[in-house]
Amino acid sequence: MKEFWNERYAEAAYAYGQEANDFLKAQEIGAALKVLCLAEGEGRNGVYLAKLGNEVTCVDYAEAGLEKTKTLAKQNGVEVTCVCADLGQMNLQAETWDLIVGIFAHFPKSVKEHIWPQVYAALKPGGQLIMEVYDQEQLSFGTGGPQHPDLLYSVDELQLLLSTNFQHIQIEKVYREVHEGAYHNGASATLQVLAVK
Ligand SMILES: C[S@@+](CC[C@H](N)C(=O)[O-])C[C@H]1O[C@@H](n2cnc3c(N)ncnc32)[C@H](O)[C@@H]1O
Repeated sequence: MKEFWNERYAEAAYAYGQEANDFLKAQEIGAALKVLCLAEGEGRNGVYLAKLGNEVTCVDYAEAGLEKTKTLAKQNGVEVTCVCADLGQMNLQAETWDLIVGIFAHFPKSVKEHIWPQVYAALKPGGQLIMEVYDQEQLSFGTGGPQHPDLLYSVDELQLLLSTNFQHIQIEKVYREVHEGAYHNGASATLQVLAVK
């Protein structure tokens, strides 16, 4: 799969565009936060968050994506820290992040079960999780996202993967138009998550 992503990111265009995800942009996000973007690919969300004045770390295992993240950051006059790592192996440090972001972070079951349960502990008290991912139903839309059902999510699955200890957690299934670069285009079924530790 890593080869698949490196090939996609070898294209000159940004696969999901250079604009941040709409759901992320719709949130009120402060400045001077320590932010972790999981599976951040070419960095459009991380760069957006850095431009708000945050200290951003982007993790992905695709080197080609992280190279484009660095280029995008430079073009926008901001810095982001890029970490090349497999989220199926990575351990998140406890109580470190004010905000964790997972936009279209799709993985096989073993990776999902390794990384998502760590998010609660990795957030500082009061820290926030913002996620948007494709729902299982997205397969019938054919407008982007993974082609294998195991890589998609459902509300029930996310409830199991994310801790129930959050002060507040909202997991909402949404039907909306997604237009992000060449690969996310059209009517879609997504899951939007907002949680506060
Ligand atoms: C659909 S892209 C989303 C990229 C970015 N979040 C965005 O919204 O533009 C999914 C990303 O997950 C990354 N990814 C998949 N499995 C991974 C893993 N095990 N470890 C790290 N990154 C992974 C891929 O390299 C790819 O960049």
